[in-house]
Amino acid sequence: MSEIVIERLSGLADLEGLLDIERASFNNPTSREWYERELGRPDVCFIYVLRLPARPVAGFCTFWRVADQIHINNLAVHPEHRRGGLGRHLLARVLEEAERMGAPNATLEVRRSNEAAQRLYDTAGFRVTATRTGYYTQPIEDALILWRTPRIP
Ligand SMILES: CC(C)(COP(=O)(O)OP(=O)(O)OC[C@H]1O[C@@H](n2cnc3c(N)ncnc32)[C@H](O)[C@@H]1OP(=O)(O)O)[C@@H](O)C(=O)NCCC(=O)NCCS
Repeated sequence: MSEIVIERLSGLADLEGLLDIERASFNNPTSREWYERELGRPDVCFIYVLRLPARPVAGFCTFWRVADQIHINNLAVHPEHRRGGLGRHLLARVLEEAERMGAPNATLEVRRSNEAAQRLYDTAGFRVTATRTGYYTQPIEDALILWRTPRIP
């Protein structure tokens, strides 16, 4: 893991690499316009990229910060680099950064059929709190709503 760099994206330079992962990972990828717009409000939207020596953008995670919470919009790892612990590493780093910002509570939605992501989130301490029927399109599917709240000592 020593060659991994995780850092916040602040400009358009790495957008193409990120969009490649979007397109390889989702049936309805988030658009370039969304990213261009969100990069314009850095107080709310945070985009982290995971870099490897062989691939400048091997994974990414985007979230909105709202008061003491973050809403994770997206997390993905390039298909050629999955199952190597990168997703777990990136998520842990994002949660750490959010806590540092004073936002220790995290929420996200995940497709009911997405077992890989659900396992990842489960081991990171997320729990299912509700469902949104028919939330996703292409194909239509329910969303599970997950929350992670800090442990009370
Ligand atoms: C979900 C995703 C980010 C995981 O990234 P990754 O780098 O492959 O994950 P890791 O190697 O860190 O795995 C962490 C844990 O997640 C779970 N996991 C990951 N991929 C899995 C798979 N294909 N099947 C079952 N469990 C899986 C496992 O519990 C794993 O722990 P383990 O390796 O000790 O068994 C990746 O599969 C991905 O980009 N998927 C497409 C995009 C997506 O669905 N994002 C989530 C949107 S909510």
